[in-house]
Amino acid sequence: MGKGHVDPRIDDKLEELYRRHLDAEEPTLAKYYTPGRGYYPPELAGEERDHFGVCLVSTDGQVYGAGDYELRFALQSLSKVFVYGMALCDHGRERVLENVGVEPSGNAFNSLVFDERYNRPFNPMVNSGALATTDLIAAEGYTEAWERIRGTFGVYAADDTLEADEEIFREEMRDADRNRATAYLMRSYGMIGREVENTLALYLRQCSIPVNCQDLATMAATLANGGTNPITGRQAIERPYVRDILSVMYTCGMYDFAGQWAYEVGIPAKSGVSGGILAVIPGKFGIGVFSPGLDVQGNSVRGIAVCEELSDRLGLHVFANESEDALLQA
Ligand code: DON
Repeated sequence: MGKGHVDPRIDDKLEELYRRHLDAEEPTLAKYYTPGRGYYPPELAGEERDHFGVCLVSTDGQVYGAGDYELRFALQSLSKVFVYGMALCDHGRERVLENVGVEPSGNAFNSLVFDERYNRPFNPMVNSGALATTDLIAAEGYTEAWERIRGTFGVYAADDTLEADEEIFREEMRDADRNRATAYLMRSYGMIGREVENTLALYLRQCSIPVNCQDLATMAATLANGGTNPITGRQAIERPYVRDILSVMYTCGMYDFAGQWAYEVGIPAKSGVSGGILAVIPGKFGIGVFSPGLDVQGNSVRGIAVCEELSDRLGLHVFANESEDALLQA
């Protein structure tokens, strides 16, 4: 699926934004992550230094992309958004809240600290929370649960062929000591009830789905459009739960940078360790950015810079005043 060019002025502005950020200094660059290789310092990075794409998809289905917006990378933690939505649809708010909270943790995404007041993970955007929501997916067994996850993600992305990359999945399973420890600890606390290895595999398999910026922006646009994919018209999630997802993305989506992000950028967003960020502008558009250079928290350095600039120039901060034609005036 290519771009649906509608307004060349927006394409030009996006291209200009892309070029400027491609050339910009990245003062907070700290590491890269690749499945199988793990984290490595910037001096060991090769061509991935220049991998960078950005895509916007509007709620009326227009697609604008610049740079490597069709380059694929592993979904990683971005999957947490959509599995949380599935758990909400399957069980409703109250039941899901019994198993996973909605409080920012202030800790790293792979922390083994839980909300002891309620005996549950702090929120669905950290690893323990995602293990809890994955454990809640209504299905008879592993295969059915996986087909549901894959199928739902495909509806969000307008791509029925989305599937895990088996090699990435194998690497993720091989390096899963910490996630495995988290899952077993959670079972010992009664936070997950199913077969631990299945829940762990379902979690890491959803992380292993290759996507590109256009997929991300389409998934984000589906949320921006109240849960209905603006390109296909298919419903990915029941509308009332979109509010829950966006609230949790807003407060918890950017790891232990979430508060600063909410303060400065002011957009519901989620990041993943492969360098993707998806951001949602309700009623307007979805953003997908990819650049694999990460800061210490694990957020894409260029991804943050691009979202900051879009937020500033287009007045996207939820508490900012916005002008109706800001997209063209910026
Ligand atoms: O669970 C992991 O370690 C990775 N597969 C995904 C981590 C990630 O993107 C950050 N999580 N919030």
